[in-house]
Amino acid sequence: MKAIAVFPVTKEVRLTNLPEPSLRSPTEVLVRILEVGVCGTDHEICSFQYGTPPTGVPFLVLGHEALGQVIEVGSAVTRFRKGDLVVPIVRRPCPHASCVYCRSARQDFCVTGDFLERGIKGMHGFMTELIVEEEKFLVPVPAELRSLGVLVEPLTIAEKAFVQGADIQERVQWKGVRELTALVLGAGPVGLLGAMVFASKGLNTFAYSRDPEDGVKAAFLRSIGAKLVSAEKTTVGEMVKQIGGIDIVYEACGASKLAFDVLEHLNPNGAFCFTGVPGRRGPVPVDTDLLMRNMVLKNQVLFGTVNAGRDSYQAAVQDLAEFSRRWPDAMAQLITGRYPMADYEKVLLGRPGGIKNVISFQ
Ligand code: BGC
Ligand code: ZN
Repeated sequence: MKAIAVFPVTKEVRLTNLPEPSLRSPTEVLVRILEVGVCGTDHEICSFQYGTPPTGVPFLVLGHEALGQVIEVGSAVTRFRKGDLVVPIVRRPCPHASCVYCRSARQDFCVTGDFLERGIKGMHGFMTELIVEEEKFLVPVPAELRSLGVLVEPLTIAEKAFVQGADIQERVQWKGVRELTALVLGAGPVGLLGAMVFASKGLNTFAYSRDPEDGVKAAFLRSIGAKLVSAEKTTVGEMVKQIGGIDIVYEACGASKLAFDVLEHLNPNGAFCFTGVPGRRGPVPVDTDLLMRNMVLKNQVLFGTVNAGRDSYQAAVQDLAEFSRRWPDAMAQLITGRYPMADYEKVLLGRPGGIKNVISFQ
């Protein structure tokens, strides 16, 4: 069967052939891949800045945002049947007995760094026709989410961030204090999905990005009751004045300078969440005295979050269903391109534009 792979040594991204997998244990599930989303991480892997093939293998099969359909289940599988839609979890636990997080299925909090991530770190991904997966790493998706299920994984990033932020903000009993303002940095898929999470929870939601205020992303945000402020014409200071203060920041653009500029303007008792993984471009000057003073005198919290646990996958499945009931037109706009496998170069090496582009494997 065909797979889309990156060869870091020879610096190639191309199709390769893999043997068709089959069930090896009674707890495994054979899944036909339907669609795989492409994100910034894939672009970084394709420019050889990130990503690690499995040990001893010269290539890494790409793809971590997948939707698949069960075609065969092992004899001990209880939760899935042939025909079910599934989303595979990306991260796999490290092998160390001492890592309490991996040992309790919270590999998103792994402390050893020896976790694996399918399509990213040490394990092949989902840009291929068939995969075999342990039942415990699959999340069920209802049939009505056939066209949106590929968005589950990018949505898990925001779901985990929201739960982490809400837990942290329990310290100031933020629920019901007053109307809170959330600011999303960036208006890519992770940012827009994050804006949907915050808006659906009742926060006053804004996004700050380079996109124009009369473009498709601004219209998308308007349709969910949020608002885009364009960084092309509004400085950070002006933006903060315009939106009247920021209680929670959801950073989803990977631009560290912008993030720290915004951090200077966080409200008292606010929380700031990083999700981007910037490339290393060398040191950036920041006013550390000012930030430290603010963080102490204003009780602020700055935190990062990576990947997600099963609870966030389940929340993402539920929220996708809720968002499509509440905002059907917006949801229909999120996936802007569906490409056959043969067009992988256009999506992975070119920048076809739009919001979320996916590759279809059937
Ligand atoms: C993926 C996460 C992963 C992270 C770091 C993101 O693009 O969505 O699952 O943990 O990259 O590798
Ligand atoms: Zn991703």
